[in-house]
Amino acid sequence: DALISGAHYWTQPFKIKRLPQCIIIGARKCGTRALIDMLNLHPQVEKAALEVHFFDRDDNYAKGLEWYRQHLPECSEDQISIEKSPSYFVTPEVPERIHAMNSSIKLLLIVREPVTRVISDYTQIYGTNSKPHNGTKSPRLEDLVLQSDGSVNVHYKAIRISLYSRYLQRWLDVFPPTQIHVIDGDALIRDPYPQLRDVERFLGLEPRLQRDNFYFNSTKGFYCWRKLEGDSRNETGLHCLNDSKGRRHPPVDRYIVSKLRRFYNPHNLRFYDMVGRDFGWPE
Ligand code: A3P
Repeated sequence: DALISGAHYWTQPFKIKRLPQCIIIGARKCGTRALIDMLNLHPQVEKAALEVHFFDRDDNYAKGLEWYRQHLPECSEDQISIEKSPSYFVTPEVPERIHAMNSSIKLLLIVREPVTRVISDYTQIYGTNSKPHNGTKSPRLEDLVLQSDGSVNVHYKAIRISLYSRYLQRWLDVFPPTQIHVIDGDALIRDPYPQLRDVERFLGLEPRLQRDNFYFNSTKGFYCWRKLEGDSRNETGLHCLNDSKGRRHPPVDRYIVSKLRRFYNPHNLRFYDMVGRDFGWPE
């Protein structure tokens, strides 16, 4: 029965591209791809294949909502369409722009321990070793995160993006907290199912995802997933994210890590206050 009742979502004849009822606003390197792909397992969720960057890029925004809609997936009446563009979180104009499109939209924000996020961001851009990159040697992480006087370099964008409380404030100036659900990205890595169940509930979806849709793949070192029975979208079998997700991080000097943790601590406490949840990030 579950199989039959689920099947109609995928075979509905009247599917049209719809503006999103939910947007994953960021943050960069916190598991935004894993989150949207895992959510897409749900029969009532259709995702945009790529990051649309409608609200954060003025040239795209100028093209108007019809352009945006064309970049969203086709859905039936009982499905919702979602997209993720991680730079929405930190771009000043975005909260107002999204609010102007749909003031009751649901927003998902996924965060990770701020220092790990900085290292992940650095690794995405420079790789794990300091081999020459486009003919030039990569800067060392410690030279980017610290200034010559030893203070934390807030001019480095990767440092700024982890100041979650600063950016979240702009969203809370525009949206009520009940419309923003915050996901612990480290918990999503350790055990995705409870996080997704919470999202399912937040979005008002039928509870369809199950623990056994997620498998820990010890070769990859991360969870992978299998689509639900009856889902004819996408390929069958176990699906893992590609090698650009779950990269090995370079070793970082303990002194640098503790300096960064101390720097982030007051911002983290403010963030816990704003969200009403203690993420327990090391001080
Ligand atoms: P690392 O590559 O630094 O480990 P985003 O998609 O927002 O860029 O986030 C990338 C991060 O998603 C990865 O950072 C990885 O830790 C995390 N992630 C969460 N769940 C994952 C999964 N199941 N497979 C691969 N990466 C996952």
